[in-house]
Amino acid sequence: MSGRILLTGVTGQVGGELAAALAPLGAVVAPGHTELDLADADSVREMIRAVKPRWIVNPAAYTAVDKAESEPELAYAINRDAVRVMGEEARELRAGVIHFSTDYVFAGVGMEPYVETDATGPLGVYGASKLAGEEALAETGAAHMIFRTSWVYGATGKNFLRTILKAARERDRLRVVADQYGAPTWSRDLAKLTAHGIAQIERRAAEGDLPEATEGFGGIYHAAGAGETTWFGFASEAIQRLREREPEATLAEVEAITTAEYPTPAKRPQNSRLSCEKLAASFGWRMMDWQESLREVMAEL
Ligand SMILES: NC(=O)c1ccc[n+]([C@@H]2O[C@H](COP(=O)([O-])OP(=O)(O)OC[C@H]3O[C@@H](n4cnc5c(N)ncnc54)[C@H](OP(=O)(O)O)[C@@H]3O)[C@@H](O)[C@H]2O)c1
Repeated sequence: MSGRILLTGVTGQVGGELAAALAPLGAVVAPGHTELDLADADSVREMIRAVKPRWIVNPAAYTAVDKAESEPELAYAINRDAVRVMGEEARELRAGVIHFSTDYVFAGVGMEPYVETDATGPLGVYGASKLAGEEALAETGAAHMIFRTSWVYGATGKNFLRTILKAARERDRLRVVADQYGAPTWSRDLAKLTAHGIAQIERRAAEGDLPEATEGFGGIYHAAGAGETTWFGFASEAIQRLREREPEATLAEVEAITTAEYPTPAKRPQNSRLSCEKLAASFGWRMMDWQESLREVMAEL
């Protein structure tokens, strides 16, 4: 593939993994937050015009779910307006956009895994702003793929696993919500999927027109870890593995609680299950089982 890849959010969980995964595909240009402020739409436009990428890969987002309730303007500027500009500029350049979204676009009702065409219904500002970003990107008509994921974690960055393992060493007892269902997703698996998706489309394009090569592949895909658990299940499994590795360590006991016992400013979906069948059918890609990825991530900690 010839052409540059403009990568946002390189300091984030997924962005850090993407920098490594995308490097074999082309020259990755990855400006940090200070060089590219996504809250400033003009600077996003200028950056894209300067770099002239063949792909824009955008894992950056306003991800502070609770804080978003009191900062909706900033959340929408980053999660919607910047994404719209990426789409507009990509359309002009005949470039492709890979964007990331979330299970929080859904209301989280029922027990079944959500499919891509299910009705959305975000419960808070973060989810609503991410949904608005999906819609804004689609409206531009740019060649794009959106990977909706859930419960992202890895060996680096700010995430549930790292928080829980640290707390397990420091406290006697941890109370963890046991009535929200979903699947932990390894940031590296998402990065590998992205590289796979780009490579697949580039093979079709054979250095030719990218929007044409994306036809039939564009749109939304659910991309979450395989299997399912609860936050309690995830925490228990991680602490159990730590116990096996460090039998002499004093680690917290985990207590299952309900969502009602752990009130937060933003409401969370109870059902975050995402069906990834479309991803398998279109790209031949199966996301890693969360227990398998947990083993790999913990080996890196
Ligand atoms: N984390 C999850 O559990 C989860 C679940 C579902 C979906 N997702 C989605 O997956 C994607 C990746 O998430 P993640 O966990 O990798 O996020 P993350 O670790 O919170 O990283 C977010 C990145 O966005 C950057 N960023 C934030 N505001 C910015 C701004 N104004 N200008 C430029 N950069 C800015 C951050 O840079 P600084 O740190 O330098 O500000 C950071 O690099 C996001 O689209 C998110 O919505 C995440």
